[in-house]
Amino acid sequence: MNPRTASESLTILTDLVLPSETNPLNNLFGGELLARMDRAASIAARRHSRRITVTASVNHVAFNRSIPLGSVVTVEAKVSRTFKTSMEIYLDVWIEDRESGNKTKANEAIYTFVAVDESGRPVEVAPVIPETELEKQRYDAALRRKQLSLVLAGKMKPDEATELKALFV
Ligand SMILES: CC(C)(COP(=O)(O)OP(=O)(O)OC[C@H]1O[C@@H](n2cnc3c(N)ncnc32)[C@H](O)[C@@H]1OP(=O)(O)O)[C@@H](O)C(=O)NCCC(=O)NCCS
Repeated sequence: MNPRTASESLTILTDLVLPSETNPLNNLFGGELLARMDRAASIAARRHSRRITVTASVNHVAFNRSIPLGSVVTVEAKVSRTFKTSMEIYLDVWIEDRESGNKTKANEAIYTFVAVDESGRPVEVAPVIPETELEKQRYDAALRRKQLSLVLAGKMKPDEATELKALFV
């Protein structure tokens, strides 16, 4: 299977925060942001694998900054690494200042998607080629994140998580 660069999967979703999407403090509701990130990640996974893709897990979400009503929010998603049938998708969320147009990083998240056939059975995906320094860092750390996710899901014994264990010795 021919490898694809990480940037080939880049997906950028830009949208406003409307009143129906906010919490009582007039900031974007967390579940709405999760849904936007899931959509962007799904498209990135599809662009990479050219397959049907499903969300297998949300590995990490950091709501570092609240996002006020009326903000312009940009979600950027890219495949950071693939394994056999699964893909790690790294998401960066930015908000845009109305006057200067400058973008500030608001949140980030990591999702795992799996490519499946028409019956929902996992199928193999192409490898990823990381090119930039950031893509390489994310690629290198992806295996231990996968192992952590599998251990937490009860799908891998802690003893088998060699890459994860290496962090502590
Ligand atoms: C995701 C799904 C296809 C995995 O199927 P499965 O029968 O468990 O298949 P496998 O055990 O072979 O796992 C497939 C891949 O997913 C990975 N995976 C499964 N659960 C994972 C988790 N919690 N974290 C990270 N990776 C996970 C496996 O490691 C494997 O990766 P690899 O082939 O790259 O090594 C299946 O659980 C599913 O269809 N889930 C529902 C998906 C869905 O509907 N999502 C929307 C939420 S409503």
